[in-house]
Amino acid sequence: MQIIHTVSELRAWSRTRRTGGRVVGLVPTMGALHAGHASLIRAARRERDAVAVSIFVNPTQFGPNEDFSRYPRTFDADCKLAEAEGADVIFAPTVDELYPTSTTTFVEVEGLSDRLDGASRPGHFRGVATVVSKLFIAAEPDRAYFGQKDAAQVAVLRRMTEDLRLGVEIVVCPIIRDPDGLALSSRNVYLSAEERTQALSLSRAIRRVETLFTNGVTDTAVLIAAADKLIQNENKIRIDYIALVDWSTLLPVETATPGTLFAIAAYVGATRLIDNTILL
Ligand code: PAF
Repeated sequence: MQIIHTVSELRAWSRTRRTGGRVVGLVPTMGALHAGHASLIRAARRERDAVAVSIFVNPTQFGPNEDFSRYPRTFDADCKLAEAEGADVIFAPTVDELYPTSTTTFVEVEGLSDRLDGASRPGHFRGVATVVSKLFIAAEPDRAYFGQKDAAQVAVLRRMTEDLRLGVEIVVCPIIRDPDGLALSSRNVYLSAEERTQALSLSRAIRRVETLFTNGVTDTAVLIAAADKLIQNENKIRIDYIALVDWSTLLPVETATPGTLFAIAAYVGATRLIDNTILL
C-alpha cells in the first residue's frame, strides 16, 4: 500500500488506474478508523475498485468551539487497518496542500447545509462539501463510499455531486454498531463508562421508533415524543434534535413513510453523537 501526500500524486495514481481499465473508489475519512470505516473499504474492495482512502482532519468543518485540536489522530493504526482491508493507497495531505494560504473558494449546498446538523453546527456542511469536492477533483473517483451514520452529510454530498455534475457515484453503507447497539463513531473514545451506558438510549430510541412504525404509527409527533421520552430519562444527555425528515431535502415530514429518515443528535456529556435509521 502506497502513502501519498500531494494532490498531483493522487491524480496521477488515479489516472494510471483508470487508463489500466480499473474503476477508482474513494473512501474519504478523517482517520481514527474503526470497523465502520473498514466496512466502507471492504465495500469498495468487493466492487473490485482500485481503492484510495483519504485521511484528513478537515479544519473547515469544525466550529470554533468544537474538537478540531483534540480529534483523535491515529495515523499508524489507520494505515494498518486500511492495508488489512485492502486499500491500495492512502492520501494524507497537509492542511496547506488542500487549503493553500490564499484559499477563498468554498462549496455551499444552499438550504440543505442549514438543516439538521447544519442548524446546530453553522458552517459544518460548507466545510464538508468543500473538502469532499477537493477530494473528488483530486482523486477523480468513479465511486465514493460514505456511512449512513452521517445521513445528513450524505444528503448534502449527493446534492452537491448532482448539482456540480461531478460524475461520482455515491455509495452509502449501513451503520456499523457495537454488539450493545452503539453506532460506531471516532468520537466514542471521548465517552466515560457512565456516558457510554447512557448513550445506548440513542440506539434504543431508534429501535423503539422502528417498532412503532412497523406497528402502524406514522404520526411524527407521536414517534418523536416516544424517542424523546426514552432519551430524556438519561441525566447526562442533552438532545440537540430528534427529527423525521425527507432524506433528500432534510425537511420535516408530518407523516412517516417508508424511506423517511429518523435522525437523532445529542450531547452525551460534552460529546455530540448522532444516530439514525431509514424507516422500512
Ligand atoms: O465523514 C467524515 O469523516 C468527514 O465528514 C469527511 C466526509 C471525510 C469529510 O471530511
